[in-house]
Amino acid sequence: MTTDYRHRFHIPKDAEGREKAYLCGHSLGLQPKTVRAYVEQELEDWERLGVEGHFHARNPWVEYGKMLAGQTARLVGAKELEVVTMNSLTVNLHLMMVSFYRPTAQRHRIVVEEHAFPSDQYAVKSQIQFHGYDPAQSLVAVAGEDELESLLEREGESIALVLMAGINYSSGRAFDLQRIARAGHRQGCTVGFDLAHAAGNLVLKLHDWHADFAVWCTYKYLNAGPGSIGGCFIHERHANAVDLPRFAGWWGHELQTRFLMGPDFRPAPGAEGWQISNPPVIALAALRAAMDLFDEAGIENLRARSIQLTAELEARLDEHAGRGFSIISPRDPQRRGAQLSIRVPSSVRHLCERLAAAGVICDWREPDILRVAPAPLYNTTEDIARFVHHFFGALNDRSTMS
Ligand SMILES: Cc1ncc(COP(=O)(O)O)c(C=O)c1O
Repeated sequence: MTTDYRHRFHIPKDAEGREKAYLCGHSLGLQPKTVRAYVEQELEDWERLGVEGHFHARNPWVEYGKMLAGQTARLVGAKELEVVTMNSLTVNLHLMMVSFYRPTAQRHRIVVEEHAFPSDQYAVKSQIQFHGYDPAQSLVAVAGEDELESLLEREGESIALVLMAGINYSSGRAFDLQRIARAGHRQGCTVGFDLAHAAGNLVLKLHDWHADFAVWCTYKYLNAGPGSIGGCFIHERHANAVDLPRFAGWWGHELQTRFLMGPDFRPAPGAEGWQISNPPVIALAALRAAMDLFDEAGIENLRARSIQLTAELEARLDEHAGRGFSIISPRDPQRRGAQLSIRVPSSVRHLCERLAAAGVICDWREPDILRVAPAPLYNTTEDIARFVHHFFGALNDRSTMS
């Protein structure tokens, strides 16, 4: 990647005006400087046009969601028909389970990865209960691909849905999604992915991998802002599956007749047919600014830079092996994304606070995991050096680590 994108972002500064080492893109990405102009354009059009903006804004709002389809499809390796931006991650996960988790007395189990993100576990358990089954019997967790494959071979006929993360939020481990989709489909299961930590981080090929569905958020590596709108993929083979159960709303109705206001729902083909409400244009504007940067940089280039940066962080940490910490993320760059998860010897919260006081921003997950992610769009080797310096300073100073 030859272009430098860092100057296209607002980098948080300390009280002295010095840029912080922000290594927290796995939680909330930084603001692209273009976001303000994209959002202001919609605010101005609303100010000038009121309701007429739906058809006469510079980017007519009635089609605003569609404007994102090309970029989104390129980002996740999909066709435009297969993607839509709507709602938020957990809401989309529920909507996908309405269509793709259809338990029967014989086949009612859902497989998730061990230590799946709590929101996914809550969503899955509540769906199981909604259908009258018991999570104690119907929810099963696997450590990884090997365990999943042997479970599927032994008990595949009892499994309705395989739902795995692209990258586990805590360990930073990336799963082989193609292998998972194949293994699930061989046993007649539907297969869905939570790509919260994978979108904008890994090169994805959702169409070729044949996932039934995938959901992701856009506030982490995608930099679309706190609580920004979610992304959703539904494979082309379901594009016209009008018989699939779904929760309907007018924005999912086919476009040609949507505004005739008829009483009967006719879903639009593809992922659009799962929309419920008209989308928040202001939020979409921020997302479009962020996605334009991804399109310009190219996810393959970003991934190549990300592999280098994370390897550098790993190497600098390894120079100090034996100091009581351990990297728990996979050592194989193909089995991880930008994030390294580091198990630390004592209070991770105090460590994080001390790093923050030194202008180094990362985060932690209970009980003892420090998460650090160099984001290839805006982080530098200097950010990594500052993290390493202050991390070892804190480890040396036992008083902060109690
Ligand atoms: C892996 C994973 N799944 C789900 C969520 C929940 O996302 P939301 O609050 O947008 O529904 C998160 C949030 O960080 C996450 O990391």
